[in-house]
Amino acid sequence: MNPPDVLPAAVVLLADFCVSFIERTATGAVPPSDGHDVAAGQVAYYRRRASEYDVTAYGDVDAARARITRVVAALRPAGNVLEIACGTGLWTSALAGVASTVTAIDAAPEAVDIARGRVQAANVRFEVADVFCWAAAARFDTVFFAFWLSHVPASRFGQFWRQLRGLVTGHGRVLFVDEHPDACGKEAYAAGSDEIIQRRLGDGSEHRLVKVFVHPGQTSARLHQLGWQGCIRRDGNDWVIGEARPANRSGRTPGTSKIQ
Ligand SMILES: C[S@@+](CC[C@H](N)C(=O)[O-])C[C@H]1O[C@@H](n2cnc3c(N)ncnc32)[C@H](O)[C@@H]1O
Repeated sequence: MNPPDVLPAAVVLLADFCVSFIERTATGAVPPSDGHDVAAGQVAYYRRRASEYDVTAYGDVDAARARITRVVAALRPAGNVLEIACGTGLWTSALAGVASTVTAIDAAPEAVDIARGRVQAANVRFEVADVFCWAAAARFDTVFFAFWLSHVPASRFGQFWRQLRGLVTGHGRVLFVDEHPDACGKEAYAAGSDEIIQRRLGDGSEHRLVKVFVHPGQTSARLHQLGWQGCIRRDGNDWVIGEARPANRSGRTPGTSKIQ
């Protein structure tokens, strides 16, 4: 286990990131997806969905647990792990079994309550926090997120990865799981937008979220432009699993850290 590094610079990066939160860019039929409205709306949606999330997101939760365990083993998270957008803790549980410590954050307190009940391992700490405005006290050996990247607006993708650069240790890795564009047929996109979707919950309430499916080639190329070496591959027809490291620290070439 690598002791966490003290991280004053990350606070500056995060301040910059949060200022950029209010940027507005788009024009046209759909409001900009990087404003407070959609970001806050996503949190409101997941707060309301928390109690039904596991079944509506994963269907067969036992089968999902087995798949999650397999994917986490393949990604080999290690050391002190930060999990962003932990939700109800299905992934946190698997991470806790292989990590030294897990710091799991999510903006929806209802989801974190469920996660706290599910994962009571001594090496896990939960926090209700908006990742876009979250300042870490230390860097992490691994930063992990499942089904979060697709909720980051394209216009904030670069800022998010700059934030991540300040969260990983010198030899740290970012690991992620998300949905491949082949799974996009289930979503209803708002008129005039290629990233705002509309969803309805069991109680009939309607919500707007960001959903940018993760194309392995395009995402790897974007990460490369941002100074990361990314290795992203498919898992089944619907998921992608990825690993990224800052490009300028070890002379590694993309893909040399293969996912098993
Ligand atoms: C698709 S769910 C994924 C949950 C979990 N990682 C999983 O795969 O089961 C997205 C999660 O992002 C969280 N979220 C949304 N906006 C957030 C924000 N700004 N900061 C932190 N978490 C956020 C939601 O509360 C929700 O739990």
